[in-house]
Amino acid sequence: MDLATYVDTAQEAARRAAVVLEQWKEQFQVREKSRADLVTDADLASQKVIQDYFAQRFPDHAFLGEEEGCQNHPGPGSRPTWIVDPIDGTTNYVHDCPLYCISIGLEIAGELVVGVVLDPSRNEMFHAAKGRGAWLNQRRLKTSATPRLQEALLATGFPPDMRGQERQLDWWRYFSLHTRSLRRTGSTALNMAYVAAGRFDAYWAFDNHIWDVAGATVLIREAGGIVTNVDGTDYNPYTPDALATNGHLHAELLSIFKNG
Ligand code: IPD
Ligand code: CA
Ligand code: CA
Repeated sequence: MDLATYVDTAQEAARRAAVVLEQWKEQFQVREKSRADLVTDADLASQKVIQDYFAQRFPDHAFLGEEEGCQNHPGPGSRPTWIVDPIDGTTNYVHDCPLYCISIGLEIAGELVVGVVLDPSRNEMFHAAKGRGAWLNQRRLKTSATPRLQEALLATGFPPDMRGQERQLDWWRYFSLHTRSLRRTGSTALNMAYVAAGRFDAYWAFDNHIWDVAGATVLIREAGGIVTNVDGTDYNPYTPDALATNGHLHAELLSIFKNG
């Protein structure tokens, strides 16, 4: 099976999930998994439709999803693993704020090779496969050319429960003063997809999960950007921190994080 088939299948899975999100609108129950960390019927139904579709198309593949105890990480020698956030930006979905998406990545032999992020509100399908470029619908993506932080638009995300995480607000303050502006969309996958699309110049965070970043990491790399951990080491998407940039701003941002 080639990556083109996998990326097409992931797009179809995301489209099916988008239908589910639309169907559940204004009907779902909301529950807090922990303080301010929401889950709805739509999250569960979206994950189920995606998981069932992959099980039917690729019965020998594994599945890792945010909800319902599907969080086993692939290990060495694992089967190809689909990594899914059925709604990234659930708080936005609950408030009918159109900044949420379905995020799907595929890991094969320890490497992320396919990424799909679907924003159903804007009908924007971001998709990428290793060596085949990153795309927004039919348009090829390239990260921005912004060379200086003063001209840059940056994005970040915060954990649902900010208590004890006030240090993260210091970075918000610092970058507010040293960039053109900042955005906090409430969706990690959209933040990163927007870096791939050249809308944002960089993105940093300290609270990610693998299902937030698996798809969008492929988008950024295929669009010519760079993703590392915040300390500059090779990116481990199973760790909570990430720095994703257009490449031009990477060294400067690493040095800022290093010097705290
Ligand atoms: C949230 C988003 C957000 C991040 C939060 C996550 P969810 O994911 O990715 O950007 O800052 O920490 O909880 O819960 O909507 O899938
Ligand atoms: Ca998420
Ligand atoms: Ca989610």
